Amino acid sequence: MYFNHPQYPTKVRLCVDDSFLNARPTRPVQDSKVARIDSVTVTAPCTTANLGPGFDVFALALEAFHDTAYVEASPGAVTLEITGPDSAGVPADPELNSAGLVAKELLNRRAVGIGVKIRIEKGIPVGKGLGSSAASAAATAVALNHMLGLQLTTNEIVQVAAQGEIASSGVPHADNVAAAILGGFTFVRSCSPFSAVGLSPPLGLEIAIAIPEVPTPSNKTGVARALLPDTVPLGKVAQNVGGAASIVAGIVTGDIGLIGKGMIDAIVEPARAHLVPGYAEVREAALEAGAEGVAISGAGPSMIAIVDNAKVRASSVAEAMRNAFKSAGVESRAITSKPARGAVIIKE
Ligand code: HSE
Repeated sequence: MYFNHPQYPTKVRLCVDDSFLNARPTRPVQDSKVARIDSVTVTAPCTTANLGPGFDVFALALEAFHDTAYVEASPGAVTLEITGPDSAGVPADPELNSAGLVAKELLNRRAVGIGVKIRIEKGIPVGKGLGSSAASAAATAVALNHMLGLQLTTNEIVQVAAQGEIASSGVPHADNVAAAILGGFTFVRSCSPFSAVGLSPPLGLEIAIAIPEVPTPSNKTGVARALLPDTVPLGKVAQNVGGAASIVAGIVTGDIGLIGKGMIDAIVEPARAHLVPGYAEVREAALEAGAEGVAISGAGPSMIAIVDNAKVRASSVAEAMRNAFKSAGVESRAITSKPARGAVIIKE
């Protein structure tokens, strides 16, 4: 379980260069004390990161849940309110919240003197490995870029949003926020210079998700990252590179079976599997029910299975996963989802 690992803060620091925020702007930047427009509302979807071998690189945006950021210019600093069905336990202190960190980062470095009032409507279950903090961060970054007329590139918006992940993981990481912003399947192509790439998943791809009712600490992702090895044998790296290549090839060619075959992680999942009670049983049950591949969703504890809906119903796979969690003594919620588009400005 997540609570028995005191090593936080994590030692794993990877892959997000935020130096552009300090660089002399090359494009027009909001430097008056007035926002370009008064308010913006943006929604961003939940996401599943890693997909097995793609730690901190791969993610897929999912239609299942979304967060909404209502952002308006307001005198003073950053104020934050958290509402919605999944708001319990989410900190409203901007220093401790992914949306708050994004706003402070942008305002302090690129729009000094402007204050904002943010309300985050939480629709994504919190602490379940479904990119809840990422969606709030992504929606806020997209909203502020638009509201302040910052004209950041998509890669820069992803980098800013990744800073918000410090609130839950202790370090920035860009996989979930890339998918929440770009939509579809995404991978972080390069850390420095930063670049993320988005690809459209095959039409028949569906995702079965089992969300176990196990308690997780607020720094759950940090705890799960602290378990990761400092060094990795080259043989395991080779296996993961092969799996990751299969996933990208499957996405590009529409071969859902190849995506599933690639979802075997020799490095991160073995170090985390014990955090998810029933991990082995859920994995086996999903494959037996016809899933093409199974993985822990992000830092867990949810599990996801990739399904080809021409072969099997995603709901049957999700139900098999729920039953396997139950056999392991854990209640869970079983749902299905299609891939989602990225963050959308729904009102200004
Ligand atoms: N790649 C991250 C991890 C995702 O596995 O720690 C967590 O949201």
